[in-house]
Amino acid sequence: MAPFRPVVRNRLAGSARRLGLQRVPLYQVHQPNPLVPDSVTMPGMLHLLDNGRIGAVGVSNYSLARWQAADAALGRPVVSNQVHFSLAAPGALEDLVPFAEREGRIVMAYSPLAQGLLGGRYGVDDRPGGVRAANPLFGTENLRRAQPLLDVLREVAAIYDAAPAQIALAWLISLPRVVIPGASSVAQVEANAAAADITLRPEEQAALTAAARAFRPVSAVRTLAQRVRERLPL
Ligand SMILES: NC(=O)c1ccc[n+]([C@@H]2O[C@H](COP(=O)([O-])OP(=O)(O)OC[C@H]3O[C@@H](n4cnc5c(N)ncnc54)[C@H](OP(=O)(O)O)[C@@H]3O)[C@@H](O)[C@H]2O)c1
Repeated sequence: MAPFRPVVRNRLAGSARRLGLQRVPLYQVHQPNPLVPDSVTMPGMLHLLDNGRIGAVGVSNYSLARWQAADAALGRPVVSNQVHFSLAAPGALEDLVPFAEREGRIVMAYSPLAQGLLGGRYGVDDRPGGVRAANPLFGTENLRRAQPLLDVLREVAAIYDAAPAQIALAWLISLPRVVIPGASSVAQVEANAAAADITLRPEEQAALTAAARAFRPVSAVRTLAQRVRERLPL
């Protein structure tokens, strides 16, 4: 259903009920709708803002151009954009982060640990299962290509007596200000929260950024083709 004003209002009502809130501080559009422009969605969001039902409007998975289009459609700043952003996927550094810095907005990093790759424990002989088995990042060639980045991460982690995952988060925290890591244990939640206390020196931040930019993963198609080849009997 196209997100016209009544649809947006109903969706907010459902979200607020599930969260147990009267007023939702930040209400985010999950992803850009390829068929429905923001000029359709944002009037509904503006209505919620004006009525005090939400505190701010955010988006997710928006390009810079679409974020700016959402701004124009709302007639006010869309305060945040939650995007795929990590040392293994640093694309937001090129446009979203500079825009956010300039305009006082927030880039939120999701999958900040590259689904566990930046935890540093996976390799060709030890890959994660479940849905991550299909993630091209855990394909043989990409695990190989990620090694120089993981080496820099381990080197910086050793300086702080920290885990590689904590350094991956510390690198992000100074950039987009908000990270939302996942975790598969309480210990990981605690370690990830403690990463907020690590302040990297500029040269460490720069070394990690350079390693992130140098990481060039191969495509999902190439990873799939390699996976098929690896399973064929010789
Ligand atoms: N807006 C969107 O479209 C969107 C899309 C995707 C995700 N998200 C959100 O982003 C959040 C996190 O994403 P994510 O779970 O995909 O990725 P993530 O934070 O990059 O990776 C989480 C995984 O990393 C490993 N890990 C976590 N802490 C660790 C630590 N301290 N040391 C070592 N390994 C650690 C764990 O896996 P193992 O221990 O099993 O290796 C964990 O399951 C979720 O809340 C999700 O809702 C949003």
